[in-house]
Amino acid sequence: MTPDLFQRLVAEARLAPSVHNVQPARWRLNGNSFDLFEDKTVRLSAGDPRGHDAAISMGAAIEGMSLAARKRGLALTETDEKGNGHEDLRFVARFTVADAGSADPLADHVEARQSWRGPFVAPTPQDRDAVRALNSDDCAVVADHTDIVALAKVIDDASFGFMARADFRAELLSWMRLRRGHPKWAQDGLNADAMGLGAVERTGASLVMGPLFKPLNAIRLAAPLLAEAAKTESAAAILLFHRPEDEVPLVSGRAFYRVWLEMEAAGFGAAVLAALADDPKAASVVTQMANISPDRRLVSAFRIGRRPAGVAYARARRAADDIIV
Ligand SMILES: Cc1cc2nc3c(=O)[nH]c(=O)nc-3n(C[C@H](O)[C@H](O)[C@H](O)COP(=O)(O)O)c2cc1C
Repeated sequence: MTPDLFQRLVAEARLAPSVHNVQPARWRLNGNSFDLFEDKTVRLSAGDPRGHDAAISMGAAIEGMSLAARKRGLALTETDEKGNGHEDLRFVARFTVADAGSADPLADHVEARQSWRGPFVAPTPQDRDAVRALNSDDCAVVADHTDIVALAKVIDDASFGFMARADFRAELLSWMRLRRGHPKWAQDGLNADAMGLGAVERTGASLVMGPLFKPLNAIRLAAPLLAEAAKTESAAAILLFHRPEDEVPLVSGRAFYRVWLEMEAAGFGAAVLAALADDPKAASVVTQMANISPDRRLVSAFRIGRRPAGVAYARARRAADDIIV
């Protein structure tokens, strides 16, 4: 493995999704193998106290590396060897690469995939058939409009449960980049373009989530201002992503990224609805609604649909050299 090839692999692996776009994966080349570490300094103590979303994000980074390797006819193998981390840099796994023979068709969709948090184009009957085709052992697709409307309310209630917590809001705000002049606008976190915020919303977001939250909540205005029901209701479907109850999140994270790429391959844009899986009450409502068996865990959910034409935005990512340690 040459340093140049390694750098190119890391540059593609970093396009994987991560919670709040914190990008926890760090990579180190050691001759013919390379190590993956988790940067624990970007953990979300309020939003993800158990490190579950961080582990899903790390799994997505591994899948990103695997896809980058497969694009070059190489396959990733995890070895049993251990690398040296330290308190802030947790060793996760050591990998080698060998000839794979075949390419991975999902690798072709890595570049185009990005979160789409705006409204969707009204779904056609063909779109509804296409979303239903995404039903699989891991994915329950809710495509009936009445069910989507019912779920939109469940999602907003669950999200508001998290947003009502001052520590959660403060942490989320610290990862939001609302001004284009923010020094980390193009580097990490959630910038206003990625969140699909218009000019007025950019100013409003910091007020509603910051100093005005309490007074607005007192007059019951905070919840409607933060609600996303209209966007959810514009979706062609809600996709519920579930995996075996006892699976480690690193493995679920790999599958999470692949499912997202499958949606992209089918021409759909998607936004993650983590609150639906993270809120136990909401998770139980949807698992019952979609008949998901009790030996499965709802890992995440997405609202999906066709994006309006020409809505891609520049993605925020750290440079490859920045995450090679
Ligand atoms: C574990 C996990 C949880 C996420 N939760 C949410 C969420 O609740 N809402 C949301 O809009 N995006 C969520 N995302 C999407 C990330 O914010 C997104 O992937 C990241 O900002 C990078 O942007 P990209 O998807 O456009 O590459 C989540 C992603 C991961 C991996």
